[in-house]
Amino acid sequence: MSAGAPLLEIDDLHVAYGQVEAVRGVSLRVGEGQIVTLIGPNGAGKTSILSALTGLVRPRAGRVRLSGQDLTGLPAHRTVAAGLTLVPEGRAILGRMTIEENLRLAGERRQPATGLAAAMEEQYRRFPVLGERRRQLAGSLSGGQQQMLAFARALLARPRVLLLDEPSMGLSPILVQQIFETIREIHREGTTILLVEQNARLALSESSYAYVLEQGRLALEGVAGDLAKDPRVQAAYLGG
Ligand SMILES: Nc1ncnc2c1ncn2[C@@H]1O[C@H](COP(=O)(O)OP(=O)(O)OP(=O)(O)O)[C@@H](O)[C@H]1O
Ligand SMILES: [Mg+2]
Repeated sequence: MSAGAPLLEIDDLHVAYGQVEAVRGVSLRVGEGQIVTLIGPNGAGKTSILSALTGLVRPRAGRVRLSGQDLTGLPAHRTVAAGLTLVPEGRAILGRMTIEENLRLAGERRQPATGLAAAMEEQYRRFPVLGERRRQLAGSLSGGQQQMLAFARALLARPRVLLLDEPSMGLSPILVQQIFETIREIHREGTTILLVEQNARLALSESSYAYVLEQGRLALEGVAGDLAKDPRVQAAYLGG
């Protein structure tokens, strides 16, 4: 597939929880090798889109394709196997298990033990603090370290598209910079990224293309640099 061709295609996606229509006909494209950002206010439906992509909720309607393969409505283990992996909002690490147990639990259903051990070592090299503390409880890690663990866990699956749900949430400015450095590094290694972020300024500066979601619908989309200059985006998301 050539650079920029749509790797992930989402067409007319609808997600509902009972009567609550969280996502109302959203179409997104993420090209191979891109970082694409999705921004929008609280409750806009951003997490619901990521949940539908990864099989955590079943979309009411619409289509999700990865490299042309239809993933719509598949359960989470199948979407991970196909190449879509989520770093969830709030990280969802298991605080009363060790770092190593968190990684093993995430990885062992996906690959043979020998492959998993090597994959875990690879992540310990990427995040040395996790390697040093591998036998400590994950709950004893700082917020930034827990986010590293959430990234490491997702990367064990060697995703083609990494879905990040508010990775900088709750982190100090220095840790936000570190997390974005990690995102840049993962991207440089060839992973395509769909990023949901509250820090719109930083997210837009790192992305090639961006979408603005409001009340379950796309309000705007465009080249990230253009959106960052758009007065509507500046007023609503950039404090301008
Ligand atoms: N499990 C659920 N059951 C019922 N309603 C839900 C559920 N999850 C989300 N919603 C509702 O769906 C809508 C979209 O929520 P969602 O979490 O997708 O938004 P979001 O853009 O990720 O918001 P935030 O920025 O706060 O993370 C909201 O109205 C929310 O209350
Ligand atoms: Mg959310």
